[in-house]
Amino acid sequence: MESFLDLCRRRCSVRDFSDKPVSDSDFAYLLECLRQAPSAVNFQPWRLLRVTDEEGLSALCRCYVNPWFRTVRDCLVVCCDHSRSWHRKSDGKDHGDIDVAIAVEHLCLAAAERGLGTCWVCNFDADLCRRSFSLPEGVEPVALIPIGYPVEGYVRRDSPRLPVEELWLRRD
Ligand SMILES: Cc1cc2nc3c(=O)[nH]c(=O)nc-3n(C[C@H](O)[C@H](O)[C@H](O)COP(=O)(O)O)c2cc1C
Repeated sequence: MESFLDLCRRRCSVRDFSDKPVSDSDFAYLLECLRQAPSAVNFQPWRLLRVTDEEGLSALCRCYVNPWFRTVRDCLVVCCDHSRSWHRKSDGKDHGDIDVAIAVEHLCLAAAERGLGTCWVCNFDADLCRRSFSLPEGVEPVALIPIGYPVEGYVRRDSPRLPVEELWLRRD
């Protein structure tokens, strides 16, 4: 059985998708993995839109203009409802983005486990996205997460990680 570390190493950003649809059972599995994510005070401020229709996908391509994104057939717009996220009393820090990030990564790892590819996309026009999908006030689109099967022979980009020594802050 694949270890969690192997799964973490195998997951990669996929930026070229085949037309093969995500099955309902795989999608339900991914959603359940997302749903189980921890969140500050268990407020679960994430809200999702699933876009699979041509009109919606075209709108997303206007929010994130990049040729590879045109291969996307299935995409989550992962939002944070900031009226539902925890704000730390001492300084008001909003923890919604942290919660959303954890939930999204649960989904991305679950997708990799099922042989599906995902890619975090944050470099999109959030305001246009808000307007295109008539998102309610206070609901911020945080990430676009395309989901699908990588094209046959997909070659992952080399994304080296920092050596362990560089992770540590010095205390002196
Ligand atoms: C918060 C966040 C935002 C990202 N935004 C984008 C993006 O807008 N476009 C893109 O192609 N990749 C985006 N990525 C993917 C990163 O470039 C990628 O995760 C990183 O290079 C490591 O590669 P890997 O995911 O294949 O391991 C984003 C990743 C994260 C975590």
